[in-house]
Amino acid sequence: MAAVDRAVTIEDLRRLALRRLPRFVGDYLEGAAGDGGGVRSNIDAFRKYKFVPRGLNDVTPVNTGNEVFGKKYASLFGISAVGVAGIYRRHADELLAEAARDANIPFILSGASMAPIETIARIAPDHTWYQLYGAHTPKVTQDMLARARDSGVKVLVYTVDYPLAPRSEVASRTGISMATGPTLRTFPKLALDALLHPCWTAEYLRNGGLAKLGSWEKYAPPGSNARQIAAYYVEHWNNTQTWQHLDLIRKSWTGPMVVKGLVHPDDVKRAVAAGADAVTVSNHGGNKLDCMQGCLESLAQVRAAVGPKVTLFFDGGIRRASDIIVAKALGADHCFLGRATIYGVTAGGLRGAKRAIELLQSDLEYTMAMIGTRTVADITRDHVAP
Ligand SMILES: Cc1cc2nc3c(=O)[nH]c(=O)nc-3n(C[C@H](O)[C@H](O)[C@H](O)COP(=O)(O)O)c2cc1C
Repeated sequence: MAAVDRAVTIEDLRRLALRRLPRFVGDYLEGAAGDGGGVRSNIDAFRKYKFVPRGLNDVTPVNTGNEVFGKKYASLFGISAVGVAGIYRRHADELLAEAARDANIPFILSGASMAPIETIARIAPDHTWYQLYGAHTPKVTQDMLARARDSGVKVLVYTVDYPLAPRSEVASRTGISMATGPTLRTFPKLALDALLHPCWTAEYLRNGGLAKLGSWEKYAPPGSNARQIAAYYVEHWNNTQTWQHLDLIRKSWTGPMVVKGLVHPDDVKRAVAAGADAVTVSNHGGNKLDCMQGCLESLAQVRAAVGPKVTLFFDGGIRRASDIIVAKALGADHCFLGRATIYGVTAGGLRGAKRAIELLQSDLEYTMAMIGTRTVADITRDHVAP
């Protein structure tokens, strides 16, 4: 039995994943701005809510199915965009897309993915959503949209909350940066770290070192290697998104468009007025600021302000099925996982990605039954206190 099959919680998969990764790679996944307080706030926010189950309801069989943009998915959650996922496990984008397809849940491919959109859309044609960061050059942004459309992608996720790369205190102390690679000062530490994590290192070397950012390769100078493409991305990725950009993207994409990364009710209202079909209340997994309220609290505030008709998605801090149900009760129409499925795929490839989904899915069915709900529509604000 593989180690991931013995995992019974996402926390177990996290431990396995971090054991496999060199410290400097694990720090990148776990780390966040400042001292990482944003990640803790997101997770802790869930602990303030407790279930108030209802009795005497027929809850068998539980049906976790959820319809989003006219498509019926098997569950209330999907997989969110995680950039450069291939550094945690080679071909992580492809493996997560396959796991999402087989579980019938949405998979959002990051705009900074290692797999190109065309590859992922081939693997999971009915489950791939495309996340756009956009480039400084409008022609490049338009080309990215065209590639997604021509690959058959229906849903666009426009991430708007990332004006700068996060300033992590861990990275400042170690001096290790993914963008610049090893330096004379950091090389000995990196080499020792790599030697102490032979599985990851063997996979890395066997595959020719750093994988290329397939999503950006087309735009970098011809013949660029992986590091040059990464440098091109860092320089050309459009970090100065404004409401005018949102208008342009809306005009260019005829299908459903999700704006991801808003937490203030007024911003959400404005995005909807500008044509967003849904907004993901998200603070980028707590990565951007160490002093930010838990994203779940933002969700509750946004839902109270926008009323029931606006479609709201949510991510940030979900590690258990109970978190998904609490988010639903507080107003999320669909939830997404960032780190949880990355832990799975890192720990055990496809099997690990599937294990993460399985664990959350079986716990979701159990918890829904235990609070007296048979379908996701039955979950209401009444099911959680305060
Ligand atoms: C390492 C890492 C990389 C991420 N990369 C992206 C990205 O490329 N695009 C994006 O929209 N969000 C990105 N996110 C944010 C996730 O989509 C999601 O909002 C967040 O991970 C949810 O929080 P959770 O990790 O607690 O589930 C990233 C998050 C992490 C942890």
